[in-house]
Amino acid sequence: MRDLDALVAIDAACFPAGIAYPREEIEFLLRNPQVMTVVAELSGIIVGFAAFQRRQPRRSHPIGRYGELVTIEVLPQFRRQSIGAELYQTLEDSLRDWGGGRMQLHVSIENRAALSFYRRLGYRVIDRAPGYYLKTIDAWQMEKDLASS
Ligand SMILES: CC(C)(COP(=O)(O)OP(=O)(O)OC[C@H]1O[C@@H](n2cnc3c(N)ncnc32)[C@H](O)[C@@H]1OP(=O)(O)O)[C@@H](O)C(=O)NCCC(=O)NCCS
Repeated sequence: MRDLDALVAIDAACFPAGIAYPREEIEFLLRNPQVMTVVAELSGIIVGFAAFQRRQPRRSHPIGRYGELVTIEVLPQFRRQSIGAELYQTLEDSLRDWGGGRMQLHVSIENRAALSFYRRLGYRVIDRAPGYYLKTIDAWQMEKDLASS
C-alpha cells in the first residue's frame, strides 16, 4: 500500500484517461486478498507493476482454478528491457504454485504492443469481447494453458 502513489502514476502514464484505473480501483486491488500484485524496482524507483486475481470456480464446476491477469504495465522509458516479461513470470509462477491451470486476460484490439507481448508469452485468442473498453473498443480475450507450457 505504501507504493500506491507510484502505481497510480505508472497507470496514468501507461493508459489514456478513461481507461486508466481511478486511484480507488488500484487501492481496491491492493487490498483484495485474491489479487497478487508485484512491482518492478530499479535503483529504488518503481518502473512497472502487474497483478492477477486468483479464481476458484465452485467445486462441482468442471473448470479448475485459474487466474485473471488484471494488468501489466511498464513506464514507457523502461520498455523492451524484459521488465514486463519478468513481472509476468512472477505472477505465472505464483498461479502455478497455487494450483492454477490457466491464465486469462483481455487486451484492446488496438493495443498491438501488448498483443505481441502476450503472443510471445504463449497466449492465444479465444474470443472477441465487443465494446469491452469504454463501451466502444473491442477486446481480445486471450488464454494461456499452463499445463501445455
Ligand atoms: C506490454 C508491456 C507491459 C510490455 O512490457 P516490456 O517491459 O516492454 O516487455 P518486454 O521487454 O518484457 O518484452 C518481451 C517481448 O514482448 C514483445 N513486445 C514487447 N513490446 C513490444 C512492442 N512494442 N512491439 C512488438 N513486440 C513487443 C517482444 O517479443 C519482446 O521481446 P523482445 O524485446 O526481445 O523483442 C508494455 O509495453 C506496457 O506497459 N504497455 C502499456 C500498458 C499495456 O498496454 N499493458 C497491457 C494491458 S492489457
